[in-house]
Amino acid sequence: MTRVLSCIQPTGDVHLGNYLGALRNWVSGQHEKDVFHGIVDLHALTVTEQPGVLGETTLKLAAMLFAIGLDPEVATVFVQSHVPEHTQLGWVMECTVSYGELSRMTQFKDKTAKREGHFISAGLFTYPALQAADIVLYDANEVPVGDDQRQHIEITRDIAIRFNHRFGDTLVVPEAVTPKAGARVMDLQDPTSKMSKSSESDAGCIMMLDDPKSIAKKFKRAVTDSDSEVYYDVKAKPGVSSLLDILAAATDSSAEALATQYTQYGPLKADAGEAIVAMLEPIQARYRELIGDKAELGRLLRVGSDRARTVASATLARVYDAIGLLPA
Ligand code: TYM
Repeated sequence: MTRVLSCIQPTGDVHLGNYLGALRNWVSGQHEKDVFHGIVDLHALTVTEQPGVLGETTLKLAAMLFAIGLDPEVATVFVQSHVPEHTQLGWVMECTVSYGELSRMTQFKDKTAKREGHFISAGLFTYPALQAADIVLYDANEVPVGDDQRQHIEITRDIAIRFNHRFGDTLVVPEAVTPKAGARVMDLQDPTSKMSKSSESDAGCIMMLDDPKSIAKKFKRAVTDSDSEVYYDVKAKPGVSSLLDILAAATDSSAEALATQYTQYGPLKADAGEAIVAMLEPIQARYRELIGDKAELGRLLRVGSDRARTVASATLARVYDAIGLLPA
């Protein structure tokens, strides 16, 4: 059975980019495939400095993951810090990747540029090695992610191939899986940048828990392009193309086909807003129910983390054995 693994950081609230780019795909394959999904709190340490924040955001994120439809009966949802094998294998991965490879990561360059003048942790630099460990620990064949994670999956493949070359066939080499529409959801205020938790203003970012009025308002104020024609061309018409992409992802259609149905920006903005409200309303209702029972969320995460550990500890033992470390 195909093994799937993907993770999300508990930094800030979940936004539409996370959902359309990745989370929705986590749900769609869960009954046919063996799926593992992690809340990667240790990755979030690379940018989180205040005490007492991550525990709460982890629980809220768990509620969101179950609200979008992950079924705890079939999907293993776990917390990264509850599975110590991640950091153990992370070290092995750090020793299997080069300084030069890590230096070429665009996410590292972007994140350090944004943090200029602030503390830049070594963890931000070695981040892809821990991410590689997250993936190979579960012998994952597929990694459903948004477009911005492609480079991290590529480096994971390179690390796994190098490890296998050095120590014999041990690790499964994974592949990134991205959706047709929604792989890169853009900021509504700056359609040349991806929608992100760290956007300068939240006017361009649709949060999963935004109320219908704010969603409609954010779409209404979305930045469009200088002429008033509607057609799909990401380079020439980034604003309109981003709206068409979102509408296509929400309605399971193609952006090019949708473009032919509009002659003005106003109706396109209104329809995109309505489609997103309709898509999010049931998720928001389930989220409100789930977040009311934190003890149950904690229980589900413990069950998930136990299941995850069973798989992760076997892989770590295989890795140590392949290297030839002295058994404990
Ligand atoms: P994170 O937490 O930033 O985002 C979670 C997922 O959301 C996708 N995403 C987007 N997709 C489309 N458009 C956007 N604007 C957008 N913004 C975010 C991301 O591609 C991601 O799939 N490094 C990862 C977390 C991670 C991970 C892993 C992922 C750690 N270990 C192992 C996969 C496998 C990250 O920071 O994602």
